[in-house]
Amino acid sequence: MTQDAYTRTAPFYDLWHEDGHVPEIRKLLPPLLDGVTGGVLEIGAGTGLITQVIGDTVAGEIFAVEPSLGMRAILLSRLSDRPALRERVTVLPYGALDADLDEPVEAVVMISVLYGFAPEERPKLWETLARQLRPGGRLIFNWRQRPVGVPGPPEVMGSYRVGRHTYEIAGQVVSATPEKATSRFSYRILQRGVVISEDIVETDGYRPTLDELTTELTAAGFTPTPAPDGLLTWHHP
Ligand SMILES: C[S@@+](CC[C@H](N)C(=O)[O-])C[C@H]1O[C@@H](n2cnc3c(N)ncnc32)[C@H](O)[C@@H]1O
Repeated sequence: MTQDAYTRTAPFYDLWHEDGHVPEIRKLLPPLLDGVTGGVLEIGAGTGLITQVIGDTVAGEIFAVEPSLGMRAILLSRLSDRPALRERVTVLPYGALDADLDEPVEAVVMISVLYGFAPEERPKLWETLARQLRPGGRLIFNWRQRPVGVPGPPEVMGSYRVGRHTYEIAGQVVSATPEKATSRFSYRILQRGVVISEDIVETDGYRPTLDELTTELTAAGFTPTPAPDGLLTWHHP
């Protein structure tokens, strides 16, 4: 998926992701940020659902990297409704590999973004993130070993009433290997059962194993620390 396929699907994001990873991250992330008093870099802040969690947990500055215009627009809208949070969130309108903060942060948080990086991009990602961390800083991201997807027909994955309309997301795996899956999603709006708008996006998702991540992150100077199932945390000396 190109970065800005997210713009086309942004209207559906908050509706759908409340049924996805976000409630779990709301529970699991705050304890992992315990003791953080300095800045936090958030990679792929999206519409700000996780930015809000970080903001409710730490008192310092947040640097929110988000390359998609549509996702960023919702993030800014969320911040404009929360003036106290807006004071300390700086929104950076580019991708993770271009991150270059003025001063190092104490933590990097990256939720549901890793799958978008191809294996050949990941070493640069880890090096870039390591450079943004102060000594002793931590890197937190979500990861789970998942079974290889099975290609098949589209299935409705979420359906939400918005006034008189239904916002519906259907998805299917197009092809899958242990390393990479290509999926197709249809984002459509229905009125009285009739589709009045539809956007189809195809996305490539990469699924590194824990061994691969351990090798890459160790090469970038990180060491693993305990984390609850679904999240990984790494310290930078
Ligand atoms: C699935 S969303 C996750 C958003 C948010 N972290 C959450 O959990 O709600 C993935 C986000 O990563 C962003 N993204 C895509 N490529 C990126 C890159 N190279 N660097 C940083 N963010 C990226 C997308 O624009 C999108 O907003």
